Amino acid sequence: MFDLSGKQGLIVGIANKRSIAWAIAQAAAAQGARLALTYPSERLEENVRELAAKLENPVIAPCDVGSDEQIADLAATLDREFGGVDFLVHGAAFAPAEALSHPFVETSREAFRIALDVSAYSLVGLARAVAPLMARRGGGSILTLTYIGSQRVFTNYNVMGVAKAALESSVRYLAADLGPQNIRVNAISAGAIKTLAAAGISGFSSILQVYRDRAPLRRGVDQTEVADAAMFLLSDAGRAVTGSILMVDAGFHAMGL
Ligand SMILES: NC(=O)c1ccc[n+]([C@@H]2O[C@H](COP(=O)([O-])OP(=O)(O)OC[C@H]3O[C@@H](n4cnc5c(N)ncnc54)[C@H](O)[C@@H]3O)[C@@H](O)[C@H]2O)c1
Repeated sequence: MFDLSGKQGLIVGIANKRSIAWAIAQAAAAQGARLALTYPSERLEENVRELAAKLENPVIAPCDVGSDEQIADLAATLDREFGGVDFLVHGAAFAPAEALSHPFVETSREAFRIALDVSAYSLVGLARAVAPLMARRGGGSILTLTYIGSQRVFTNYNVMGVAKAALESSVRYLAADLGPQNIRVNAISAGAIKTLAAAGISGFSSILQVYRDRAPLRRGVDQTEVADAAMFLLSDAGRAVTGSILMVDAGFHAMGL
């Protein structure tokens, strides 16, 4: 049903074994996809190479998504190694630490710029770079990861919530632009999961307890559950779905008081 054999995918946003993007990479590889993984800096290169060693014949390339030049170099590498791309998973997000612990009203212009650039604009830049490679394959699927902090206030999520709102809106505009080429663009809004990015948000562990107390399923979610939902959107099973935000959060979004 979620078969990805013969497909070639790019996964951006793996930092370590807890990364949601790594869970998606493992699930996609299990469904038969060949993958390209990126690392944003030399500091994380070793981690990504170690994880990639578990995959069959992966392509590994640098890409700081804040750099147009590195995105262009990545597209050239994919053109050379793959010739075409069937899917892109975008799991990159960043905001300066002080913006995730001080009151939102104190967000500096620079912290705002960086958060929106790395966490939202990067989807636009990457989509533009891979679209011609997807068109060559008759279409493709682009998937990003978001959080409900885009819609509602979560203490200390702050500028990341604003960035996720921009990201979700970008999903809809990109879906409209790229749909005629049979390229779909969607997001999964995941429940809170303890990862490196989450650790940067002050008081994150108290958010996890709220899911256990209040989500309809009375629990949080884990990376493999997000990855399973991703298989639907990346594979032909999701072929009529685009411009959507799929909530994979144990139902937390449905609750009011
Ligand atoms: N963990 C959660 O609770 C949760 C919930 C919903 C959505 N998300 C989203 O899921 C995505 C993945 O996050 P995660 O929780 O797996 O944490 P993570 O820290 O494993 O992943 C974040 C990734 O962003 C990458 N990144 C940061 N700056 C970059 C740059 N300039 N260039 C390229 N890559 C860069 C990091 O290297 C890292 O791999 C993020 O968009 C995050 O906002 C996370």
